[in-house]
Amino acid sequence: MIPIELYLIDRPNIFNYKCIIAHSKRKRRHLLFCNSKILNGFIVFEGLDGAGTSTQLKLLEKKLKLHEISARTTYEPTNGAIGKLIRNILSGKEPMEKSSLARLFSADRNEHLYGRNGIQELCESGELVICDRYLFSSLAYQGADIGMEKVYTLNAGFPLPEILFFFDVDPRSGEKRYRKRKRLEIYENRNSQEKVRTHYYKLLKELETSNVQLHIINSEKNIEEISRELWSILSAHPIVKM
Ligand code: TYD
Repeated sequence: MIPIELYLIDRPNIFNYKCIIAHSKRKRRHLLFCNSKILNGFIVFEGLDGAGTSTQLKLLEKKLKLHEISARTTYEPTNGAIGKLIRNILSGKEPMEKSSLARLFSADRNEHLYGRNGIQELCESGELVICDRYLFSSLAYQGADIGMEKVYTLNAGFPLPEILFFFDVDPRSGEKRYRKRKRLEIYENRNSQEKVRTHYYKLLKELETSNVQLHIINSEKNIEEISRELWSILSAHPIVKM
């Protein structure tokens, strides 16, 4: 008999063998990753606060320009109307139910993907799009707040990136970095970061059953070293047309 979960996949393909294997290996296996569409030309950076994703994105942008490689860089939360509201909530100025915050992130992402000049449109026109944080942040951060299952549901149907770079940093090292900034945001404390890291690790395991190309970068190294490692991976990849 076919397990009921296989009927519930949002784009049903019950003969997707990876899904079936994943399901039979572990009873409570999530099926989101093995069933989602990959958006070609889409690259995502993820990591804890203080992992250095924004710094690395800026350095990468410079290298791409230097080599005359056309690419768009972007980030979440976005600078759109919903993203601005989210930033306010993250600052602690606007208290909000955690479940509402999870929904806001999902709505912000929907605009980011499908709005005018959105990620989907850009990638489909052959553009390379590199995004600082994406749905994996929701699964890790909001997953730690309200449970990953609920966050999966809110993000089901969004496409997955072709490549994911996870910048791995110990929460203590991350803390040293984000504490240098003036104001701390709601997740910028050791307790939250430890939980978020556990959730990220679960996701990385989960991604084994997907077609996302995952690269884990040791973000304890210095900025230049990390930037070189990133460039050596990307510049050798067919996604970057040199
Ligand atoms: P961050 O990239 O650290 O921005 P900045 O350094 O400019 O403050 O992101 C802000 C915070 O938002 C970070 O703590 C992670 C959190 N976040 C979520 O909780 N869920 C999400 O879906 C996204 C995209 C970010």
